[in-house]
Amino acid sequence: MLADVKKLEDAGKRLAPDAVELLLSVDKEGVVRALLENPVPIISADAVLAAIAEEGKIPQPVEVKRASGFAPISKEHSPRLRVIERQDISGKSRCTGTIEDFVEHFQDRFKRVGKMLKNRISANPVVETERLKENQGKGVRLICMVAERRDTKKGDLLLTVEDGKGTAKVFVSKREKCFLAAKGIADDEIIAVDGKYADPFLIASEITWPDLPVVRERKHAEEDLAVAYISDLHIGSRHFLEKEFANFLSWLNGKWGDATLAGKVKYVEIGGDIVDGIGVYPSQEKDLVIKDIYKQYEMFDELIVNLPDYVEVIVSPGNHDAVRRADPQPIIPMELMKADVKKVGSPSLVEIEGLKHLIYHGTSLDSVIAGIPGLSYNRPEEAMLALLKRRHLSPLYGDNLIVPEKQDVMVIEEEPDVLHMGHVHKNGHLNYRGTVVLNSGTFQARTEYQERMGHIPTPGKAYVMELKSGNLNMVDFGEPGQG
Ligand SMILES: [Fe+2]
Ligand SMILES: [Fe+2]
Repeated sequence: MLADVKKLEDAGKRLAPDAVELLLSVDKEGVVRALLENPVPIISADAVLAAIAEEGKIPQPVEVKRASGFAPISKEHSPRLRVIERQDISGKSRCTGTIEDFVEHFQDRFKRVGKMLKNRISANPVVETERLKENQGKGVRLICMVAERRDTKKGDLLLTVEDGKGTAKVFVSKREKCFLAAKGIADDEIIAVDGKYADPFLIASEITWPDLPVVRERKHAEEDLAVAYISDLHIGSRHFLEKEFANFLSWLNGKWGDATLAGKVKYVEIGGDIVDGIGVYPSQEKDLVIKDIYKQYEMFDELIVNLPDYVEVIVSPGNHDAVRRADPQPIIPMELMKADVKKVGSPSLVEIEGLKHLIYHGTSLDSVIAGIPGLSYNRPEEAMLALLKRRHLSPLYGDNLIVPEKQDVMVIEEEPDVLHMGHVHKNGHLNYRGTVVLNSGTFQARTEYQERMGHIPTPGKAYVMELKSGNLNMVDFGEPGQG
């Protein structure tokens, strides 16, 4: 098309006459995009033909190498893997989304997160909203849900809170030392406010989140085995990094990179967005090389079969997978994913070698990063920590779709040893009060959407944790391996 030729010329490219002829005969956005990305300033007919071939390319199964003398220690151990059912909604969802469902859902959340707060030490007695007036001038602790937060004209903070018994107004002065922490308060979250009651306000002196207990030892496994954490493969997308993923598979077969570490890997935990899906966002079609959802999962099945049979694979869904979009998400159905893997919902709690792994895709991270000051896509581990401290995987109601199940499984009831999320396509980790928090990045190259948003992903890298020593390794599958 003429417009395509002009677009290339405007970008400073010089086109050979036969290249122009070819370009006029095709009408494919992907071809122009590939030519724009090509660093060579002069475009020949061959370059156009190569771009056309690339555009029409259907991904072929990747070549996975296997080492003959590979003797992994993980082969000698039987798996110790257990899904803790209560955190997984799969097959149990009975919700119809009525007002009553929402009321019950939030009551359940308030009860369970509130209980954690009641167990935290405070100098003040816990008082409910209806008894605040009786405690005029006294120090009290109120456990409440934030209905509304508002900055006053003078720069102080005013919260409207509720606790199921009634509502109250909390005033946080900008001069109080808890003001900085209070700035991180978002709507709908459950907190404890310590302060003095001066009708009609509770004047806050301290804000407490449920958090993890301060003294908590990090847990270690008995056997020297390892877990590889990956997510966001986006199979079917033209940005899926087949070569890097093939390197990952070859590595687990002892034929790429560090075979000693690979030999310890007994578990591969996949945190969602296995495929790119269909119709997940507008005009997704142009980004897909596999436009059939069944074929996308078929490719996953074909890839994963290359893993050694002694490796256990745990698969949880994400917002691009073909299950309901709202959290909590159930398992990916058998008619789509046929591979011999352990499928779990998102979130789910899985015990691996005695270590509790809380797996959640992380769809709520978008709303958390947007809604809580100081968080960014560059440091997903900090956004994950914000969730851990709030003991809830989707504390801000509204932007992240939720299904109001009777029991709110997004509550982080048990303290996890590992919190694994994906979704933001960026690796990041930290250790916090005995919990390893990690985001497993992606196997998808940077997309145009991410470019527009200024997001810089970290594709092709995976965390691998040795469960006995607790060492967290990062393996870069984009690097040339030694195999
Ligand atoms: Fe993703
Ligand atoms: Fe995602």
